[in-house]
Amino acid sequence: MIAQRKDDHVRLAVEQQHGHSGQNQFDEVSFVHHALAGIDRADVSLATTFAGISWHVPLYINAMTGGSANTGVINRDLAIAARETGVPIASGSMSAYFKDPSCAGTFSVLREENPDGFVMANVNATASVDKAQRAIELLRADALQIHINTAQETVMPEGDRSFSSWVPQIEKIAASVDVPVIVKEVGNGLSRETVLTLRNLGVRVADLGGRGGTDFARIENGRRDLADYAFLDGWGLSTAACLLDAQDAGIPVLASGGVRNPLDVARALALGASGVGASGGFLRTLMDGGVPALIAQISTWLDQLAALQTMLGARTPAELTRCDLLIHGALRSFCADRGQETQRFALRSRTSAGPEVMGTRP
Ligand code: FNR
Repeated sequence: MIAQRKDDHVRLAVEQQHGHSGQNQFDEVSFVHHALAGIDRADVSLATTFAGISWHVPLYINAMTGGSANTGVINRDLAIAARETGVPIASGSMSAYFKDPSCAGTFSVLREENPDGFVMANVNATASVDKAQRAIELLRADALQIHINTAQETVMPEGDRSFSSWVPQIEKIAASVDVPVIVKEVGNGLSRETVLTLRNLGVRVADLGGRGGTDFARIENGRRDLADYAFLDGWGLSTAACLLDAQDAGIPVLASGGVRNPLDVARALALGASGVGASGGFLRTLMDGGVPALIAQISTWLDQLAALQTMLGARTPAELTRCDLLIHGALRSFCADRGQETQRFALRSRTSAGPEVMGTRP
């Protein structure tokens, strides 16, 4: 049953990628162009450090799969791409392994193919501390992701209907495991209130996992006989909205959900993300063009991200938070209603010694 679900998810997610409009709320974030802001490419680093974690690049392959023969092959290919490009990678939910340990290899291949890479295990919020530890051990994981997905479970025919244990369980796991815990949404976003709760629970990092790309309510609706939950299509907060909502929340955030290209990566970093993840788009590339196509795509994204930092005058991903940003349209209304002042993003190079005015300062 789980193996079938994992195969369904891959098939429906790739179908969704092929049918996607290509638009999302990252389009409502733009950089103010400063024509003399540029620096030298040789001075640009892509390295990022947060919550005691150091990555050479601020881009990662986010959680997807494992648990069936087919998805084991996908994990092998994703792991090879991660190894060849140096990006961190997350496993899909490891519930299937707890139910049937014979599928362990479909997950552990992530480590076998990528012995020196940064690998994240992935469990749901009902996992016991013992299961969380087993997941970490199987992958010799560098971090543990706990996914939270009430909208997906609500629409999933065989989904969980009891959510009240999630908060105490997350707290227990965060207190017990000896790798950093990252709590992530799966495409419906984390509000500021949720991010603050996670911080108070001892979670080290929040992966905002917002709307704009893979839509799991829609995927699960496609698995229902009557497809009677179509009204939840598009549920949740966009990743750009989550980033704005989580400003100064006191916990590092990662951005994922609807990241389409290197400009979205730069936008997310400029809005405060410490790293940026993609799933569905990378899966589509892998299914359409195989491992070489995925390696080429990730390499191009990293190269073009460095090019954007060069143009924008950001020596590191963190320095992108000094660049001026304009917030447009519905995203601007969202900020107004949520008490997030937007003008400070548009003028911050003046107050933060942004690279473009450094030479002219008195
Ligand atoms: C996912 N995602 C996911 N997340 C998670 O924490 N555990 C999981 O098992 C899965 N499974 C899964 C399967 C497939 C096929 C896809 C495409 C995605 C969610 C994923 O990590 C991410 O949060 C969302 O897909 C949003 O990012 P994109 O796809 O818009 O880049």
